[in-house]
Amino acid sequence: MWGGRFAEGPSAIMREINASIPFDKALWREDIRASKVHVAMLARQGIVTSDDSNAITQGLDTIASEFERDGVPEDWDLEDIHMTVESRLTELIGPAAGRLHTARSRNDQVATDFRLWVRAANERALAGLDALQHALVTRAGEHADSVMPGFTHLQTAQPVTLGHHLMAYYEMTRRDVARFAAAQERLAECPLGAAALAGTGFDIDRDFTATELGFSRPTANSLDTVSDRDFALDYLMAAAQCSLHLSRLAEEMIVWASQPFGFARMPDALSTGSSIMPQKKNPDAAELVRGHAGRIVGCATALMVTMKGLPLAYSKDMQDDKPPVLEAANLLDLSLAAMTGMVRGCTFQTKRMRAAAELGFATATDLADWLVREANIPFREAHHITGAAVRLAEERSIALDAIPLADLQAIDTRIDERVFDHLTVDASVAARASYGGTAPDQVRQRVAEARAALGMEE
Ligand code: ARG
Repeated sequence: MWGGRFAEGPSAIMREINASIPFDKALWREDIRASKVHVAMLARQGIVTSDDSNAITQGLDTIASEFERDGVPEDWDLEDIHMTVESRLTELIGPAAGRLHTARSRNDQVATDFRLWVRAANERALAGLDALQHALVTRAGEHADSVMPGFTHLQTAQPVTLGHHLMAYYEMTRRDVARFAAAQERLAECPLGAAALAGTGFDIDRDFTATELGFSRPTANSLDTVSDRDFALDYLMAAAQCSLHLSRLAEEMIVWASQPFGFARMPDALSTGSSIMPQKKNPDAAELVRGHAGRIVGCATALMVTMKGLPLAYSKDMQDDKPPVLEAANLLDLSLAAMTGMVRGCTFQTKRMRAAAELGFATATDLADWLVREANIPFREAHHITGAAVRLAEERSIALDAIPLADLQAIDTRIDERVFDHLTVDASVAARASYGGTAPDQVRQRVAEARAALGMEE
């Protein structure tokens, strides 16, 4: 392909280090699609004859069906997917194949192919997030009234509802959706026509190729075009942040499914057994989602570091852009599907959650708030009085609302029997009706808004 200038062929090491076909064969559909549009444009512009263009198009279609059927052959001498396609095209149609590469370079070609691939990855992420959001919102709606302990420091803090907890993850996914959508918008410019780095002397029509490939417009600077991988980084950074959310949700599921918690049972279909302990049902899928987040973040880091010192325009370092993106996309797609299945299929042990909320003195703040409201006690003092009540309940191993009134009054005479209406977990969550709070009515409103936003039937 470039032998003309060389007296000797490349060494074995050169061939091996240069070959990207083992991974960039994943781009074969995009490569063929972009080549078909490119040659159609060349024919429209009178740069190649329509006979040559037809032969090239037919040859590319043949190659597509061969690859579909048999996979992509891996020949290191052909370096990459672009040369693999061109070489097969030459075998199929002869010298006319050599006209396909007119007014183009592998630099704008790979940038175009890769953008098309990443665009599809963004779409898959958005679809995966949509499915997860449906699952979260559905389960949240079912559990708008289910009380559980809310935690800070993983210590029981105040009662919340399970619906509220699940809707917290819905909010995270909403930001993920915005990030992938923004990535998609920035990606919508077509590199084809930037050629090697400086543009081309042929009278090409970049608007035509951009439109035919589903881009909004051609890129505006040829140097930037062939050396820009921001679109891949946008994807990876959105994926990394999304994977952090999935990992946190996975972690909660793992904790909730543990026997001491017993808040949830994982679906069998997303659990594994133990080869030695017959009672075990392990949350491996959730653990792998948690683990995959590390790899996805690693992929984002890898490409950032690859790009950081590169001068304009293309350098071969950039060939290393593909493995991290391919890896991250595979892991993210799987993680989204796994978490969606888990949210849909897990059984929440709501009795157990409620009992845990009742046991953890989670309504202590409600007692303090009551002292402030009803007895006009400054909050700091109310906090102190409540602390004494909690100590008493803890000593006797009873719930706060099980302390006899006489004992509460021994702590502070200003407490009266009306306080008991405020010490149940239901009263506590119902009271937190500020916008965005955990009160069941608030949760129902947020769920209704989410359902409308997602186009879910009422
Ligand atoms: N395989 C190369 C890549 O993925 C294609 C571009 C090659 N361009 C070049 N100037 N050697 O980046």
